[in-house]
Amino acid sequence: MLAIIGGTGLTNLANLEITRREIVRTPYGEPSGHLTFGEITTSGARAKADVIFLARHGYGHTIPPHEVNYRANIWALQSLGVTRILAVNSVGGVAVNLGPGEIGVPDQIIDYTSGRRHTFFEGDKPVTHIDFTFPYCNLARLLYLAAAKAVNINVIENGVLGVTQGPRLETLAEVNRMERDGCTMVGMTSMPEASLARELGLSYATLALSMNHAAGRGTSAQGIKLEDADAVLNVGMEKIRTILAKAVDLHAAMPIDARGLAEPIAETK
Ligand code: HPA
Repeated sequence: MLAIIGGTGLTNLANLEITRREIVRTPYGEPSGHLTFGEITTSGARAKADVIFLARHGYGHTIPPHEVNYRANIWALQSLGVTRILAVNSVGGVAVNLGPGEIGVPDQIIDYTSGRRHTFFEGDKPVTHIDFTFPYCNLARLLYLAAAKAVNINVIENGVLGVTQGPRLETLAEVNRMERDGCTMVGMTSMPEASLARELGLSYATLALSMNHAAGRGTSAQGIKLEDADAVLNVGMEKIRTILAKAVDLHAAMPIDARGLAEPIAETK
């Protein structure tokens, strides 16, 4: 089963025919909201494909990045049989070519967050280390890239997503440091979401929409003008929905054992 986690600007999928909603309780507390089951009408061979949708910040966009219950969200999806998560994140562009409205598929992460509940392996669980050299599932990334190509939407094919604690935006010096570190984009929600998905052996990738240039860059040279963000999001999320519909179709066309991370990834010590 495929899940989509929507972020800022994507609290629903217009092309999702909802079949039911389910509230899932987890050992980690409440997910961001009910899980929405539905079918996406695709342009491909399969007329419809099943997906589960979850709004990361809640359906009314009330949960800030540092208060999202990432563990409950990922655990709930896995408990429903999800093997792959296609996530969507709004980001700021650190690289100048990631201006407002541009879309990227990051292949690396630097985690600058602090104090988030970031692992399932604590308390009475055995000490477990996961391999996180390549934080996103390459098959899921390729699905996004192939989908974007098929619907003729330009995306930047890789990138390093720096994940900050928020909810405030960054200082100029912080963005300068992130750029020196190698970040090409900055967001607040890809961690610990990506690593929790890996802990549970799920295939996970993200489509990142630039809402703004990061602080001190390009159109944000004199500061980030959040007034402009809504218009950028509205146009950008239409593109994201189009890519998602195609990605869902491509996923449904894959052989069953390619629809999630097959190989064991946890090493227990
Ligand atoms: N910084 C961090 N997160 C973001 C930004 C940003 O500039 N824009 C959208 N999400």
